[in-house]
Amino acid sequence: MDADTDHSPGGGNAESNGIRDASALGDASAGAETGAPGNDKSNDGGNDKSNDGDYVIDVSGLTKSFGGKVVVNGLSMRVKRGEIYGFLGPNGSGKTTFIRMLCGLLKPDSGSGTCLGLDVLTQADEIKPHVGYMAQRFSLYEDLTVRENLDFTARMYGLPNRAEAVDACLARMGMNRFENQLAGSLSGGWKQRLALSSCTLHGPKLLLLDEPTAGVDPGARRDFWDEVHKLASQGVTALISTHYMDEAERCHRLAYIAYGDLLAQDTLEGIVDHAGLTTWSVSGPNLPELAERLRPLPGVDQVVAFGNTLHVSGQDKHLLDATLSPFLLANGQDWKLIRTSLEEVFIHLMRGQQARQNGQAAKGGGQP
Ligand SMILES: Nc1ncnc2c1ncn2[C@@H]1O[C@H](COP(=O)(O)OP(=O)(O)OP(=O)(O)O)[C@@H](O)[C@H]1O
Ligand SMILES: [Mg+2]
Repeated sequence: MDADTDHSPGGGNAESNGIRDASALGDASAGAETGAPGNDKSNDGGNDKSNDGDYVIDVSGLTKSFGGKVVVNGLSMRVKRGEIYGFLGPNGSGKTTFIRMLCGLLKPDSGSGTCLGLDVLTQADEIKPHVGYMAQRFSLYEDLTVRENLDFTARMYGLPNRAEAVDACLARMGMNRFENQLAGSLSGGWKQRLALSSCTLHGPKLLLLDEPTAGVDPGARRDFWDEVHKLASQGVTALISTHYMDEAERCHRLAYIAYGDLLAQDTLEGIVDHAGLTTWSVSGPNLPELAERLRPLPGVDQVVAFGNTLHVSGQDKHLLDATLSPFLLANGQDWKLIRTSLEEVFIHLMRGQQARQNGQAAKGGGQP
């Protein structure tokens, strides 16, 4: 893989030029990592290892525990060059922990694999300079201007011609007019844009973006995604965690993790098809009452209001259809079979995982 031979800016001196260590990024969890590296290939999700060169991320069975609690449980993932890979899951599911293991800020307890062709267990310092990591929390310097922040980043990565690199970045990201403004006084959307500018300044081949658009307005989010797609078309790979379903739809592939376990990994269509849910939409009068009536009925797993319609889904199509058949004949309501949304699939997956974990806990096998 080209990462092995690449000498992009900063590549020669991981200590001084690599990603700033996590404490410098303002991330308190950096120092908490524990555990020794292992080499457990037992849970590789059935990955075929014959095509390793095609994958920018190729990890298998990555596991991390904090204080005896497993927060990432044998996670395997393969991401191809130029792919935009969405990473979703409920709060506390291990997304940030997984991302931090990939970019060398946390050492996995066990598992194996490569990031940019470099070993995630033994070559963390070499991975850092080639990755653009955007932490979940804004981690630039609020009391430096936009230009000073970018100049600082350029210095960290040892870029030659820093001023030119910063000029080009400001122009590319449409940030010229803010160059002398303190980062701390930018609006949320522009802070995110500055953070993206900072993590792409050194021309990384892999972006690891942890909820990069949280709290950002739709226009700024669209600009952000346009930028990510432009970078992907130039061969940059991006792993992006998000809670936004519309953003998930902009990814080439998706992974869904819940409470440490990877529950789905596929294209959007593949994930929706594989979940096997049937969904009806109903519009008409008295929808809140109808929702209350439907919720406890057999075969009805989810009833969700979407504007002036309800979406009614279930995994057992025959049971759901049988339950709904008297309702379908009722006057005044318009029922339609529709495609199940990603949100319904993710809620379904999350509930299934919760039920499994509750079952294990009841048997005494759960996590403390
Ligand atoms: N440094 C740490 N020390 C102890 N526990 C931690 C540490 N970092 C994360 N955890 C715990 O690990 C679990 C997973 O956290 P993580 O931040 O990876 O989840 P997440 O999926 O990114 O959540 P969110 O969507 O809220 O950002 C949580 O229970 C969290 O409290
Ligand atoms: Mg997180």
